[in-house]
Formats: sequence, structure tokens, C-alpha cells
Amino acid sequence: LPYEEPMDIDFSFNGPFGNWDRQQLQRGYQVYKEVCAACHSLKFVAFRNLADLGYSEAQVKAEAASWQVPGIDPNTGEATTRPGEPTDYFPSPYPNKVAAAAANNNAIPPDLSLITKARHDGSNYVASLLTGYQDPSPEVLEEHPEAAPGPGLYHNVYFHNLNIAMAPPLSMDGQVTYAEGNPEPTISQMSKDVAAFLTWTAEPTMVKRKQTGLAVLGFLLFATILAYLSKKQIWSSVK
Ligand code: HEM
Repeated sequence: LPYEEPMDIDFSFNGPFGNWDRQQLQRGYQVYKEVCAACHSLKFVAFRNLADLGYSEAQVKAEAASWQVPGIDPNTGEATTRPGEPTDYFPSPYPNKVAAAAANNNAIPPDLSLITKARHDGSNYVASLLTGYQDPSPEVLEEHPEAAPGPGLYHNVYFHNLNIAMAPPLSMDGQVTYAEGNPEPTISQMSKDVAAFLTWTAEPTMVKRKQTGLAVLGFLLFATILAYLSKKQIWSSVK
């Protein structure tokens, strides 16, 4: 089947000098919250981690409180929900995997915390996948009748496993409203933003890692020059 490799997207965090674009991470968080969170959990991320994205302590608290997390009714001891606190982790939209499968045509939406690491070229892949929905062409169908998506399945040129059980989650421009001063929320822009956000959830220390690496290389270069000069000095009297 003519599946495609992910697009090569010019993310701000690419390359050895890459850095997060915090405005973009905040937009991506908004897309996750308003769209993806209906089906996908983010179980390794705590609300307090949002401080990394440039939110103040008060904003993190307010953000946490805007989510409902599992709790216990202090009076009856029964399971219930309560507003989140900064130390809570993002809640799962389903009580368990059976409920998740039942709601999604028997496919379980994977936790997205590490998805950009779990898939090859993950940041590019997630952004591409969200924009890659299209019907298989008549030529493809002729050669591969199995490419016709069955009920509840969708054809996506970036999904290499025949057809995907996720309906196009970003289906129209402006599906999410961005705050003043941000780019237009086109499908392509929202896809890149949420892919950037999910790159951060998978490796929040990526930029620090790169910066540390550069400092280490600089030190090693310095130490090498010093060692070379010392060697010349020490052996200078030997013919
Ligand atoms: C699978 C991302 C919204 C249901 C996936 C995968 C990713 C993803 C990366 C894994 C694909 C793979 O296995 O390679 C997103 C993002 C969303 C979003 C970024 C928001 C923009 C949704 C929504 C639903 C949903 C709203 C439910 C209505 C599913 C299901 C699967 C899936 C059922 C499993 C598909 C399969 O294995 O065939 N999603 N998703 N997703 N998603 Fe989403």
C-alpha cells in the first residue's frame, strides 16, 4: 500500500540548538484538553508539570481545578470525582480498558504521554497522522481491495497498519479557538501544536539535555586543547 513516511516539520525544538516554543506548547495543551482528552489519557503528566509551559502557580492551580479527577466521597466512602490539584495526574477519560474499547469500536485509544517516543519519528508522525486522513484512491483500491476501510475505520496515509479506528479528531479549521496573538487554528497548525505538546510530555527535559550536551562538548574541546598544550610543554626539552 502507498503509505507515506511522516512529513519533515520545522519544529522549534529540532537540532542541537533547538528550544521549546512555549506559546506553541500552550496551544498544543489546549488542543489536547479540548479535543484529544475526550478519548486519550496522559497518565505520566501531572498538572504541576504545566509550570514548564510558562504558566504561573495560580494558573497551574486554576488549570488543575478545571479537570475532574477520581476521588472518594468523604461521607459515604464511595468513588466519585473532585476538581484536580497541581499534584494530581491527568485523568483517564474511561474507567478501564473495557469501557475504552466499548466506546471506540473495540480499539483502545493509547495513552499519549509517551506516544512521540513510541512511534518512529514521533513528533513528525503525530502531526502528519492528524492531517493524513483521505480516502484510498480508486487505483489503490483496485490493487488492494483490503485498503477500503471497514465500518468504524478510517484510511490514513501515515498509519502503516491498514486502517485506523480513530475518526479524524481535527476535522475543521478553527475547531479550537486560540488566544489573541497566536497563529490561525488551521488543522495543520493545531496538528503541529499538539505534536509539539506531546513531544514535551514525552521528554520534558529534552532542551536541557541538548544544552548540557553542548556544554559537555565545549568542555571536552577545552580539555583536549589543554592536554595537547601540556604535552607539548612537557616534552619540549626532548629531541
Ligand atoms: C489512536 C492521537 C483524538 C480515539 C491514536 C494514536 C495517536 C492519536 C498518536 C496512535 C496511532 C498509532 O497507533 O500509531 C490523537 C490526538 C488527538 C486524538 C493527538 C487529538 C487531536 C482522539 C479522539 C478519539 C480518539 C477524540 C475518540 C473519539 C483513538 C483511538 C485510537 C487512537 C480509538 C486507536 C486507533 C487504532 O489503534 O486503530 N490517537 N488522538 N483519538 N485514537 Fe486518537
